[in-house]
Amino acid sequence: MKLWGGRFTKPTNELVDEYTASISFDQKLAQYDIQGSLAHVDMLAKCDIISKEDAAEISKGLQTVAQKIKAGEAELTEANEDIHMNVEKLLIDEVGAVGGKLHTGRSRNDQVALDMRLYLRESLVTIVELLTALQESLMKQAKANLDTVLPGYTHLQRAQPVLFAHHMMAYVSMFSRDAERLTDSFKRVNRSPLGAGALAGTTFPIDRMMVADSLNFDGVVENSLDAVSDRDFVVEFLSNASLVIMHLSRLSEELVQWSSAEFNFVELDDAFCTGSSMMPQKKNPDVAELVRGKSGRVYGHLIGMLTTLKGLPLAYNKDMQEDKEGMFDTVETLKGALGLFAPMIATMDVKKDNMYEAVAKDFSNATDLADYLVGKDLPFREAHAVVGQVVLHCINENKYLLNLTLEEFKGFSDLIDEDIYAVLDPKAVVNARNVIGGTAKNRVEDQITHSETILEKEKAWIEAHVEIVNVFK
Ligand code: ARG
Repeated sequence: MKLWGGRFTKPTNELVDEYTASISFDQKLAQYDIQGSLAHVDMLAKCDIISKEDAAEISKGLQTVAQKIKAGEAELTEANEDIHMNVEKLLIDEVGAVGGKLHTGRSRNDQVALDMRLYLRESLVTIVELLTALQESLMKQAKANLDTVLPGYTHLQRAQPVLFAHHMMAYVSMFSRDAERLTDSFKRVNRSPLGAGALAGTTFPIDRMMVADSLNFDGVVENSLDAVSDRDFVVEFLSNASLVIMHLSRLSEELVQWSSAEFNFVELDDAFCTGSSMMPQKKNPDVAELVRGKSGRVYGHLIGMLTTLKGLPLAYNKDMQEDKEGMFDTVETLKGALGLFAPMIATMDVKKDNMYEAVAKDFSNATDLADYLVGKDLPFREAHAVVGQVVLHCINENKYLLNLTLEEFKGFSDLIDEDIYAVLDPKAVVNARNVIGGTAKNRVEDQITHSETILEKEKAWIEAHVEIVNVFK
Protein backbone atom coordinates (compact mmCIF):
# COMPACT_ATOMS: atom_id res chain seq x y z
CA MET A 1 0.00 0.00 0.00
CA LYS A 2 1.34 3.42 -1.01
CA LEU A 3 1.51 6.21 1.60
CA TRP A 4 -0.98 8.05 -0.64
CA GLY A 5 -2.89 4.92 -1.75
CA GLY A 6 -6.27 5.67 -0.09
CA ARG A 7 -8.15 6.99 -3.12
CA PHE A 8 -6.75 4.45 -5.58
CA THR A 9 -8.41 1.19 -6.54
CA LYS A 10 -5.54 -0.26 -8.59
CA PRO A 11 -1.83 -0.68 -8.04
CA THR A 12 0.44 1.68 -9.95
CA ASN A 13 1.75 0.42 -13.28
CA GLU A 14 5.34 -0.72 -12.65
CA LEU A 15 6.68 1.47 -15.42
CA VAL A 16 5.04 4.48 -13.79
CA ASP A 17 6.73 3.66 -10.49
CA GLU A 18 10.03 3.38 -12.28
CA TYR A 19 9.51 6.54 -14.33
CA THR A 20 8.31 8.85 -11.56
CA ALA A 21 10.55 7.67 -8.73
CA SER A 22 13.43 9.90 -7.70
CA ILE A 23 14.89 7.68 -4.99
CA SER A 24 17.82 6.60 -7.18
CA PHE A 25 19.20 10.14 -6.98
CA ASP A 26 17.42 11.97 -4.16
CA GLN A 27 18.73 9.51 -1.56
CA LYS A 28 21.64 11.95 -1.50
CA LEU A 29 19.29 14.18 0.51
CA ALA A 30 18.56 11.56 3.20
CA GLN A 31 20.48 13.14 6.08
CA TYR A 32 19.19 16.65 5.29
CA ASP A 33 15.65 15.31 5.03
CA ILE A 34 15.93 13.72 8.45
CA GLN A 35 17.42 16.85 10.05
CA GLY A 36 14.48 18.80 8.66
CA SER A 37 12.08 16.22 10.08
CA LEU A 38 13.75 16.36 13.51
CA ALA A 39 13.33 20.15 13.59
CA HIS A 40 9.74 19.84 12.38
CA VAL A 41 8.69 17.23 14.95
CA ASP A 42 10.33 19.16 17.76
CA MET A 43 8.30 22.23 16.77
CA LEU A 44 5.08 20.19 16.52
CA ALA A 45 5.52 19.15 20.16
CA LYS A 46 6.48 22.64 21.37
CA CYS A 47 3.37 24.04 19.69
CA ASP A 48 1.24 21.32 21.30
CA ILE A 49 0.23 19.92 17.93
CA ILE A 50 1.44 16.44 18.92
CA SER A 51 2.37 15.17 22.39
CA LYS A 52 5.91 15.35 23.78
CA GLU A 53 5.92 11.55 24.13
CA ASP A 54 4.97 10.99 20.50
CA ALA A 55 7.58 13.51 19.41
CA ALA A 56 10.26 11.79 21.48
CA GLU A 57 9.43 8.43 19.92
CA ILE A 58 9.45 9.87 16.43
CA SER A 59 12.77 11.62 17.01
CA LYS A 60 14.36 8.47 18.33
CA GLY A 61 13.01 6.54 15.37
CA LEU A 62 14.34 9.14 12.94
CA GLN A 63 17.81 8.91 14.49
CA THR A 64 17.72 5.14 14.02
CA VAL A 65 16.60 5.52 10.41
CA ALA A 66 19.43 8.01 9.83
CA GLN A 67 21.97 5.55 11.22
CA LYS A 68 20.59 2.70 9.14
CA ILE A 69 20.65 4.70 5.92
CA LYS A 70 24.20 5.85 6.64
CA ALA A 71 25.29 2.28 7.27
CA GLY A 72 23.58 1.11 4.09
CA GLU A 73 21.26 -1.10 6.13
CA ALA A 74 17.99 0.54 5.11
CA GLU A 75 16.11 -0.65 2.06
CA LEU A 76 15.19 2.28 -0.16
CA THR A 77 12.61 1.33 -2.78
CA GLU A 78 11.20 2.74 -5.97
CA ALA A 79 7.72 1.73 -4.78
CA ASN A 80 8.17 4.42 -2.10
CA GLU A 81 9.07 6.88 -4.84
CA ASP A 82 11.37 9.39 -3.19
CA ILE A 83 13.53 9.97 -0.16
CA HIS A 84 10.74 11.66 1.79
CA MET A 85 8.32 8.75 1.59
CA ASN A 86 11.07 6.19 2.02
CA VAL A 87 12.14 7.83 5.27
CA GLU A 88 8.54 8.04 6.48
CA LYS A 89 7.95 4.38 5.67
CA LEU A 90 11.17 3.35 7.43
CA LEU A 91 10.14 5.45 10.43
CA ILE A 92 6.75 3.74 10.63
CA ASP A 93 8.47 0.35 10.36
CA GLU A 94 10.66 1.44 13.26
CA VAL A 95 8.17 3.05 15.68
CA GLY A 96 4.75 1.94 14.44
CA ALA A 97 1.70 4.05 13.66
CA VAL A 98 2.87 7.03 15.73
CA GLY A 99 5.43 7.63 12.95
CA GLY A 100 2.49 8.69 10.81
CA LYS A 101 2.20 11.87 12.90
CA LEU A 102 5.48 13.25 11.52
CA HIS A 103 3.91 14.59 8.33
CA THR A 104 1.35 16.72 10.24
CA GLY A 105 1.27 20.25 8.83
CA ARG A 106 3.82 19.45 6.18
CA SER A 107 3.94 18.44 2.52
CA ARG A 108 6.62 16.88 0.41
CA ASN A 109 6.53 20.14 -1.51
CA ASP A 110 7.92 22.29 1.29
CA GLN A 111 10.01 19.35 2.47
CA VAL A 112 11.88 18.90 -0.81
CA ALA A 113 12.50 22.65 -1.11
CA LEU A 114 13.97 22.54 2.39
CA ASP A 115 16.24 19.59 1.61
CA MET A 116 17.55 21.27 -1.53
CA ARG A 117 18.40 24.41 0.43
CA LEU A 118 20.10 22.50 3.24
CA TYR A 119 22.17 20.54 0.74
CA LEU A 120 23.10 23.58 -1.32
CA ARG A 121 24.09 25.86 1.55
CA GLU A 122 26.49 23.23 2.86
CA SER A 123 27.91 22.74 -0.65
CA LEU A 124 28.39 26.50 -1.02
CA VAL A 125 30.69 26.57 2.00
CA THR A 126 32.71 23.62 0.70
CA ILE A 127 33.04 25.16 -2.76
CA VAL A 128 34.16 28.52 -1.38
CA GLU A 129 36.74 26.68 0.74
CA LEU A 130 38.07 24.95 -2.37
CA LEU A 131 38.13 28.23 -4.29
CA THR A 132 40.15 29.82 -1.51
CA ALA A 133 42.66 26.97 -1.63
CA LEU A 134 43.03 27.41 -5.39
CA GLN A 135 43.55 31.16 -4.98
CA GLU A 136 46.29 30.40 -2.46
CA SER A 137 48.05 28.12 -4.96
CA LEU A 138 47.86 30.79 -7.66
CA MET A 139 49.23 33.36 -5.22
CA LYS A 140 52.06 31.04 -4.25
CA GLN A 141 53.07 30.87 -7.93
CA ALA A 142 52.65 34.64 -8.23
CA LYS A 143 54.98 35.31 -5.32
CA ALA A 144 57.56 32.91 -6.70
CA ASN A 145 57.42 34.58 -10.11
CA LEU A 146 57.60 38.28 -9.44
CA ASP A 147 60.63 38.48 -11.75
CA THR A 148 59.43 36.01 -14.36
CA VAL A 149 58.66 37.72 -17.65
CA LEU A 150 56.67 36.06 -20.42
CA PRO A 151 54.94 37.36 -23.52
CA GLY A 152 51.44 38.62 -22.92
CA TYR A 153 49.17 37.77 -25.85
CA THR A 154 46.27 39.25 -27.74
CA HIS A 155 44.79 37.18 -30.58
CA LEU A 156 47.29 34.57 -29.31
CA GLN A 157 50.00 36.74 -30.91
CA ARG A 158 52.80 38.06 -28.72
CA ALA A 159 51.75 41.54 -27.66
CA GLN A 160 53.56 43.02 -24.65
CA PRO A 161 55.63 41.34 -21.95
CA VAL A 162 53.97 40.74 -18.59
CA LEU A 163 55.04 39.19 -15.32
CA PHE A 164 53.97 35.60 -14.79
CA ALA A 165 52.86 36.80 -11.36
CA HIS A 166 50.54 39.27 -13.09
CA HIS A 167 49.05 36.46 -15.16
CA MET A 168 48.45 34.32 -12.06
CA MET A 169 46.86 37.27 -10.25
CA ALA A 170 44.40 37.76 -13.11
CA TYR A 171 42.94 34.36 -12.22
CA VAL A 172 43.00 35.18 -8.52
CA SER A 173 40.81 38.19 -9.32
CA MET A 174 38.37 36.06 -11.33
CA PHE A 175 38.09 33.48 -8.58
CA SER A 176 37.62 36.23 -5.98
CA ARG A 177 34.56 37.43 -7.87
CA ASP A 178 33.32 33.86 -8.11
CA ALA A 179 33.70 33.46 -4.35
CA GLU A 180 31.93 36.78 -3.82
CA ARG A 181 28.99 35.67 -5.97
CA LEU A 182 28.71 32.35 -4.17
CA THR A 183 28.90 33.87 -0.70
CA ASP A 184 26.38 36.53 -1.66
CA SER A 185 23.96 33.90 -2.94
CA PHE A 186 24.11 32.14 0.42
CA LYS A 187 21.69 34.60 2.00
CA ARG A 188 19.05 33.84 -0.63
CA VAL A 189 19.53 30.09 -0.19
CA ASN A 190 19.45 30.29 3.57
CA ARG A 191 15.70 30.77 4.03
CA SER A 192 13.35 28.10 5.29
CA PRO A 193 10.41 27.11 3.06
CA LEU A 194 9.04 24.77 5.72
CA GLY A 195 5.50 25.60 6.78
CA ALA A 196 4.41 26.46 3.25
CA GLY A 197 2.70 23.07 3.18
CA ALA A 198 1.62 21.85 -0.23
CA LEU A 199 1.17 25.45 -1.43
CA ALA A 200 -1.08 27.55 0.79
CA GLY A 201 0.27 27.13 4.32
CA THR A 202 -1.30 24.89 6.94
CA THR A 203 -4.29 24.86 9.29
CA PHE A 204 -2.11 23.81 12.25
CA PRO A 205 -0.72 26.50 14.57
CA ILE A 206 2.88 25.80 13.57
CA ASP A 207 5.80 28.10 14.26
CA ARG A 208 7.75 28.59 11.08
CA MET A 209 10.33 30.82 12.74
CA MET A 210 11.08 28.21 15.38
CA VAL A 211 11.91 25.62 12.72
CA ALA A 212 13.92 28.16 10.74
CA ASP A 213 15.93 29.09 13.84
CA SER A 214 16.63 25.53 14.85
CA LEU A 215 18.01 24.80 11.36
CA ASN A 216 20.13 27.99 11.42
CA PHE A 217 18.21 29.71 8.64
CA ASP A 218 18.24 33.51 8.44
CA GLY A 219 14.45 33.52 8.19
CA VAL A 220 11.62 32.02 6.16
CA VAL A 221 10.56 32.28 2.53
CA GLU A 222 7.74 34.79 2.93
CA ASN A 223 5.19 33.56 0.45
CA SER A 224 4.05 29.94 0.61
CA LEU A 225 3.40 29.64 -3.14
CA ASP A 226 6.85 31.03 -3.85
CA ALA A 227 8.42 28.79 -1.21
CA VAL A 228 7.31 25.56 -2.87
CA SER A 229 7.51 26.53 -6.51
CA ASP A 230 10.60 28.58 -7.12
CA ARG A 231 14.01 27.15 -7.74
CA ASP A 232 15.73 30.40 -8.56
CA PHE A 233 18.31 29.58 -5.91
CA VAL A 234 19.22 26.49 -7.94
CA VAL A 235 19.45 28.51 -11.17
CA GLU A 236 21.57 31.12 -9.42
CA PHE A 237 23.93 28.45 -8.17
CA LEU A 238 24.19 26.84 -11.62
CA SER A 239 24.91 30.24 -13.10
CA ASN A 240 27.61 31.03 -10.53
CA ALA A 241 29.02 27.54 -11.02
CA SER A 242 29.10 28.10 -14.78
CA LEU A 243 31.31 31.14 -14.24
CA VAL A 244 33.64 29.18 -11.98
CA ILE A 245 34.05 26.38 -14.51
CA MET A 246 34.38 28.88 -17.36
CA HIS A 247 37.30 30.48 -15.53
CA LEU A 248 38.77 27.06 -14.78
CA SER A 249 38.34 26.09 -18.40
CA ARG A 250 40.28 29.11 -19.64
CA LEU A 251 43.07 28.39 -17.19
CA SER A 252 42.96 24.77 -18.38
CA GLU A 253 43.40 25.87 -21.96
CA GLU A 254 46.46 27.91 -20.98
CA LEU A 255 47.96 24.97 -19.12
CA VAL A 256 47.41 22.75 -22.14
CA GLN A 257 49.11 25.29 -24.40
CA TRP A 258 51.93 26.13 -22.01
CA SER A 259 52.80 22.48 -21.44
CA SER A 260 53.03 21.72 -25.18
CA ALA A 261 56.48 21.45 -26.77
CA GLU A 262 55.56 24.48 -28.89
CA PHE A 263 55.27 26.74 -25.83
CA ASN A 264 57.24 24.76 -23.24
CA PHE A 265 56.46 27.34 -20.53
CA VAL A 266 55.40 25.00 -17.72
CA GLU A 267 55.67 21.38 -16.79
CA LEU A 268 52.83 19.90 -14.78
CA ASP A 269 53.85 17.53 -12.04
CA ASP A 270 53.86 13.83 -12.98
CA ALA A 271 51.26 13.21 -10.28
CA PHE A 272 48.76 15.32 -12.22
CA CYS A 273 49.35 13.95 -15.73
CA THR A 274 48.60 10.70 -17.49
CA GLY A 275 50.30 8.66 -20.19
CA SER A 276 49.32 7.12 -23.49
CA SER A 277 48.60 3.43 -23.90
CA MET A 278 50.41 3.43 -27.23
CA MET A 279 52.97 6.24 -27.34
CA PRO A 280 55.52 5.71 -24.57
CA GLN A 281 56.86 9.27 -24.65
CA LYS A 282 53.52 10.96 -23.94
CA LYS A 283 52.67 12.95 -20.83
CA ASN A 284 49.20 14.39 -21.21
CA PRO A 285 47.53 17.26 -19.31
CA ASP A 286 44.34 15.18 -18.92
CA VAL A 287 43.07 16.91 -15.80
CA ALA A 288 43.13 20.31 -17.46
CA GLU A 289 41.50 18.92 -20.60
CA LEU A 290 38.78 17.16 -18.65
CA VAL A 291 37.96 20.27 -16.62
CA ARG A 292 37.73 22.21 -19.89
CA GLY A 293 35.45 19.47 -21.22
CA LYS A 294 33.25 19.38 -18.15
CA SER A 295 32.33 23.04 -18.53
CA GLY A 296 29.83 21.75 -21.10
CA ARG A 297 27.81 19.71 -18.66
CA VAL A 298 27.65 22.54 -16.11
CA TYR A 299 26.36 25.03 -18.72
CA GLY A 300 23.95 22.29 -19.83
CA HIS A 301 22.52 21.96 -16.34
CA LEU A 302 21.99 25.74 -16.19
CA ILE A 303 20.09 25.82 -19.47
CA GLY A 304 18.22 22.65 -18.51
CA MET A 305 16.97 24.10 -15.23
CA LEU A 306 15.96 27.42 -16.77
CA THR A 307 14.05 25.56 -19.46
CA THR A 308 12.34 23.23 -17.00
CA LEU A 309 11.08 26.18 -14.97
CA LYS A 310 10.12 28.60 -17.70
CA GLY A 311 6.54 27.53 -18.41
CA LEU A 312 5.48 26.22 -15.02
CA PRO A 313 2.33 27.62 -13.46
CA LEU A 314 2.36 28.07 -9.69
CA ALA A 315 2.77 26.15 -7.51
CA TYR A 316 4.59 22.77 -7.38
CA ASN A 317 4.69 20.67 -10.53
CA LYS A 318 6.34 17.29 -10.88
CA ASP A 319 8.61 18.80 -13.53
CA MET A 320 10.53 20.30 -10.63
CA GLN A 321 11.86 16.92 -9.60
CA GLU A 322 14.28 17.55 -12.47
CA ASP A 323 16.04 20.13 -10.27
CA LYS A 324 18.19 17.58 -8.47
CA GLU A 325 20.55 15.70 -10.74
CA GLY A 326 21.91 18.82 -12.42
CA MET A 327 22.55 20.49 -9.08
CA PHE A 328 24.19 17.42 -7.56
CA ASP A 329 26.30 16.86 -10.64
CA THR A 330 27.38 20.50 -10.69
CA VAL A 331 28.42 20.40 -7.04
CA GLU A 332 30.43 17.21 -7.63
CA THR A 333 31.95 18.57 -10.84
CA LEU A 334 33.13 21.75 -9.14
CA LYS A 335 34.45 19.92 -6.10
CA GLY A 336 36.42 17.55 -8.32
CA ALA A 337 37.87 20.27 -10.53
CA LEU A 338 38.77 22.71 -7.76
CA GLY A 339 40.17 19.95 -5.55
CA LEU A 340 42.60 18.94 -8.31
CA PHE A 341 43.48 22.40 -9.55
CA ALA A 342 44.79 23.70 -6.23
CA PRO A 343 47.60 21.12 -5.92
CA MET A 344 48.18 20.97 -9.69
CA ILE A 345 48.88 24.72 -9.83
CA ALA A 346 50.94 24.68 -6.63
CA THR A 347 53.24 21.92 -7.95
CA MET A 348 53.64 23.09 -11.54
CA ASP A 349 57.19 23.84 -12.67
CA VAL A 350 57.45 27.29 -14.25
CA LYS A 351 60.15 27.38 -16.94
CA LYS A 352 61.32 30.94 -16.43
CA ASP A 353 64.16 30.78 -18.95
CA ASN A 354 61.90 29.58 -21.74
CA MET A 355 59.43 32.32 -21.00
CA TYR A 356 62.19 34.92 -21.05
CA GLU A 357 63.55 33.55 -24.31
CA ALA A 358 60.11 33.96 -25.88
CA VAL A 359 60.09 37.60 -24.82
CA ALA A 360 63.66 38.32 -25.92
CA LYS A 361 63.12 36.84 -29.37
CA ASP A 362 60.14 38.86 -30.42
CA PHE A 363 58.83 42.35 -30.88
CA SER A 364 56.74 42.72 -27.75
CA ASN A 365 58.81 45.81 -26.82
CA ALA A 366 57.72 47.63 -29.99
CA THR A 367 55.06 49.68 -28.20
CA ASP A 368 57.77 50.96 -25.89
CA LEU A 369 59.82 52.28 -28.80
CA ALA A 370 56.74 54.17 -29.97
CA ASP A 371 56.07 55.47 -26.43
CA TYR A 372 59.74 56.58 -26.27
CA LEU A 373 59.28 58.68 -29.40
CA VAL A 374 56.06 60.11 -27.97
CA GLY A 375 58.11 61.13 -24.94
CA LYS A 376 60.22 63.14 -27.40
CA ASP A 377 57.08 64.92 -28.57
CA LEU A 378 56.37 62.91 -31.72
CA PRO A 379 52.57 62.41 -32.10
CA PHE A 380 51.71 58.78 -31.26
CA ARG A 381 50.31 58.04 -34.72
CA GLU A 382 53.58 59.10 -36.38
CA ALA A 383 55.61 57.18 -33.80
CA HIS A 384 53.50 54.09 -34.58
CA ALA A 385 54.35 54.40 -38.28
CA VAL A 386 58.09 54.86 -37.62
CA VAL A 387 58.21 51.76 -35.40
CA GLY A 388 56.29 49.79 -38.02
CA GLN A 389 59.12 50.60 -40.44
CA VAL A 390 61.75 49.59 -37.87
CA VAL A 391 60.01 46.25 -37.26
CA LEU A 392 59.78 45.58 -40.99
CA HIS A 393 63.52 46.32 -41.30
CA CYS A 394 64.26 43.91 -38.44
CA ILE A 395 62.17 41.15 -40.02
CA ASN A 396 64.05 41.58 -43.30
CA GLU A 397 67.42 41.62 -41.51
CA ASN A 398 66.48 38.75 -39.19
CA LYS A 399 67.05 40.90 -36.09
CA TYR A 400 65.17 42.09 -33.03
CA LEU A 401 64.97 45.68 -31.82
CA LEU A 402 67.74 45.23 -29.28
CA ASN A 403 70.10 43.95 -32.02
CA LEU A 404 69.95 47.22 -33.98
CA THR A 405 72.86 49.64 -33.83
CA LEU A 406 72.24 53.25 -32.89
CA GLU A 407 73.01 54.20 -36.51
CA GLU A 408 70.30 51.85 -37.72
CA PHE A 409 67.83 53.38 -35.25
CA LYS A 410 68.80 56.89 -36.30
CA GLY A 411 68.15 55.94 -39.90
CA PHE A 412 64.44 55.83 -38.89
CA SER A 413 64.36 58.74 -36.43
CA ASP A 414 67.08 60.97 -35.08
CA LEU A 415 65.04 61.34 -31.89
CA ILE A 416 66.41 57.94 -30.84
CA ASP A 417 69.44 58.04 -28.54
CA GLU A 418 71.67 55.62 -26.65
CA ASP A 419 69.20 55.38 -23.74
CA ILE A 420 66.81 53.40 -25.98
CA TYR A 421 68.55 50.11 -25.13
CA ALA A 422 67.67 50.39 -21.44
CA VAL A 423 64.08 51.32 -22.34
CA LEU A 424 63.63 48.25 -24.56
CA ASP A 425 64.98 45.75 -22.04
CA PRO A 426 62.08 43.35 -21.24
CA LYS A 427 62.21 43.98 -17.49
CA ALA A 428 62.21 47.73 -18.07
CA VAL A 429 59.28 47.28 -20.46
CA VAL A 430 57.33 45.46 -17.74
CA ASN A 431 58.20 47.95 -15.01
CA ALA A 432 57.24 50.88 -17.22
CA ARG A 433 53.58 49.77 -16.90
CA ASN A 434 53.42 51.43 -13.54
CA VAL A 435 49.69 52.14 -13.19
CA ILE A 436 47.15 50.64 -10.84
CA GLY A 437 46.53 47.10 -12.08
CA GLY A 438 49.52 47.27 -14.45
CA THR A 439 52.22 44.64 -14.79
CA ALA A 440 55.07 46.63 -13.13
CA LYS A 441 56.50 44.57 -10.30
CA ASN A 442 55.46 47.00 -7.54
CA ARG A 443 51.90 47.11 -8.95
CA VAL A 444 51.69 43.32 -9.00
CA GLU A 445 52.94 43.29 -5.41
CA ASP A 446 50.10 45.70 -4.60
CA GLN A 447 47.64 43.28 -6.21
CA ILE A 448 48.99 40.44 -4.09
CA THR A 449 48.61 42.51 -0.92
CA HIS A 450 45.07 43.47 -1.88
CA SER A 451 44.15 39.88 -2.70
CA GLU A 452 45.53 38.72 0.61
CA THR A 453 42.97 40.86 2.43
CA ILE A 454 40.22 39.47 0.19
CA LEU A 455 41.37 35.95 1.00
CA GLU A 456 41.27 36.74 4.70
CA LYS A 457 37.67 37.88 4.26
CA GLU A 458 36.79 34.69 2.41
CA LYS A 459 38.30 32.66 5.22
CA ALA A 460 36.41 34.62 7.84
CA TRP A 461 33.19 34.00 5.90
CA ILE A 462 33.93 30.28 5.78
CA GLU A 463 34.62 30.17 9.49
CA ALA A 464 31.38 31.97 10.26
CA HIS A 465 29.33 29.69 7.99
CA VAL A 466 30.80 26.24 8.61
CA GLU A 467 28.87 26.14 11.89
CA ILE A 468 25.67 27.50 10.38
CA VAL A 469 25.40 24.75 7.79
CA ASN A 470 26.28 21.98 10.20
CA VAL A 471 22.94 21.16 11.76
CA PHE A 472 23.59 17.46 12.15
CA LYS A 473 22.93 16.47 15.71
N1 ARG B 1 10.20 13.76 -5.32
C1 ARG B 1 9.56 15.01 -5.40
C2 ARG B 1 10.49 16.03 -5.98
O1 ARG B 1 11.63 15.79 -5.96
C3 ARG B 1 9.14 15.46 -4.05
C4 ARG B 1 7.95 16.38 -4.07
C5 ARG B 1 6.79 15.62 -4.60
N2 ARG B 1 5.57 16.28 -4.39
C6 ARG B 1 4.45 15.86 -4.99
N3 ARG B 1 3.39 16.50 -4.71
N4 ARG B 1 4.43 14.86 -5.81
O2 ARG B 1 10.11 17.06 -6.47
